[in-house]
Amino acid sequence: MTESSFMLEALELAKKGQFTSGKGACVGCIISKNNQIIGKGFYEFFGAPHAEIMAIESVRKKYRNNFNEVLAGSTITVTLEPCSEFGKTPPCLDEILKYNFKKIIIGQLDASQSSLERLKKSDIEVVTEEIPNELNKGFFKNLKYKKPYVRAKIAMSEDKKIAFIEDDNQWITCSASRLDGHKFRALSDIVLTGSGTIKRDNPALDVRDSEITQLKNFQQPIRAIIASESKLNADLKFFKTPGPKIIFCSNKDVYKNLDSVVDLEVFEIEDSKIKINLLRLLDELSSQDIHDVLLESGPKLITSFIEADLIDEFIIYIAPKILSNTALSFFEGEDSKSPFNSKDFILSEEASIESDKRIIYRRKNGIK
Ligand SMILES: NC(=O)c1ccc[n+]([C@@H]2O[C@H](COP(=O)([O-])OP(=O)(O)OC[C@H]3O[C@@H](n4cnc5c(N)ncnc54)[C@H](OP(=O)(O)O)[C@@H]3O)[C@@H](O)[C@H]2O)c1
Repeated sequence: MTESSFMLEALELAKKGQFTSGKGACVGCIISKNNQIIGKGFYEFFGAPHAEIMAIESVRKKYRNNFNEVLAGSTITVTLEPCSEFGKTPPCLDEILKYNFKKIIIGQLDASQSSLERLKKSDIEVVTEEIPNELNKGFFKNLKYKKPYVRAKIAMSEDKKIAFIEDDNQWITCSASRLDGHKFRALSDIVLTGSGTIKRDNPALDVRDSEITQLKNFQQPIRAIIASESKLNADLKFFKTPGPKIIFCSNKDVYKNLDSVVDLEVFEIEDSKIKINLLRLLDELSSQDIHDVLLESGPKLITSFIEADLIDEFIIYIAPKILSNTALSFFEGEDSKSPFNSKDFILSEEASIESDKRIIYRRKNGIK
């Protein structure tokens, strides 16, 4: 094996924590000697030992009697710059400096840490690789801009229609696409919708993919409704489903029938009489350490988010159907702002899910 394959392997390990790492970044780590892997670790859940510590411990377990000797002269490959500051756990850098590693290979730098400088002053050879890494978008966006990374998930027909005008019980996409969508809920700290969707579809908005929910440290994302004036009713599935819930509103009437609902927080975001200021809402989320947002709403709220240029990624499921006038368009604004036409977005991924297609548009110039 070569050192570049160790970084790919470390990235695969990092991915193992994608549904459980919570507010922490997904990180993978490989320790190798003479081109053989001797230790592995990844960051599993918020507050758990970091990937580097897990990898060092895995070597300790295997080589109890000559652990220090085995580590001396080895290479540590880690997808993210090790931490230099005390957080939930002590700094990984201090631990790394205890052993005589020959080399450290770092996949991505972390502007909140200063390990790189200190490592460069040590006897360890330091290699930095800016590896393409789809993980940790919210973590990096929050670090740079103090804003969460916003994904919008939309199911539509080939003619870009999102909802039937009359028949409430018809799905646009197939069940495999709908299950696939649960992965994006699980990647998020919060799933947001609008009062229009809550009243019309009565969704629970929780993750129901059992392969994910049975993971040992999986926690359901927070679920949230944006409602400026609609009165909400405690019988909705959203409120009956256990787990943390938030209402963002600008009028007390919205939640006056909800005294019986448990695990519910209400944020009043003052604004114009009709709409919630979405930028302020995202600031509020960021101040609560919420890094990844999934928007699953109808055309009104999607349009407001697009008009305010607040979406970083569109996950679009397209069913092979034409709905024409029987359905609502997904976006009510100017065509040039839709992800399909906007010069700021690029088609980044395409996949087939049975007869549906899943396409992902991301910002051309990365996070903003
Ligand atoms: N195919 C899909 O992917 C998908 C996903 C979700 C929903 N849908 C469909 O979408 C339809 C509902 O669409 P919708 O447009 O009525 O619902 P929506 O976009 O989910 O909710 C709109 C409501 O959000 C509130 N809101 C607060 N601040 C806002 C702001 N800044 N901008 C916009 N809205 C704000 C308003 O509530 P107040 O009235 O309280 O002021 C507004 O009426 C349903 O038929 C549903 O099936 C489709």
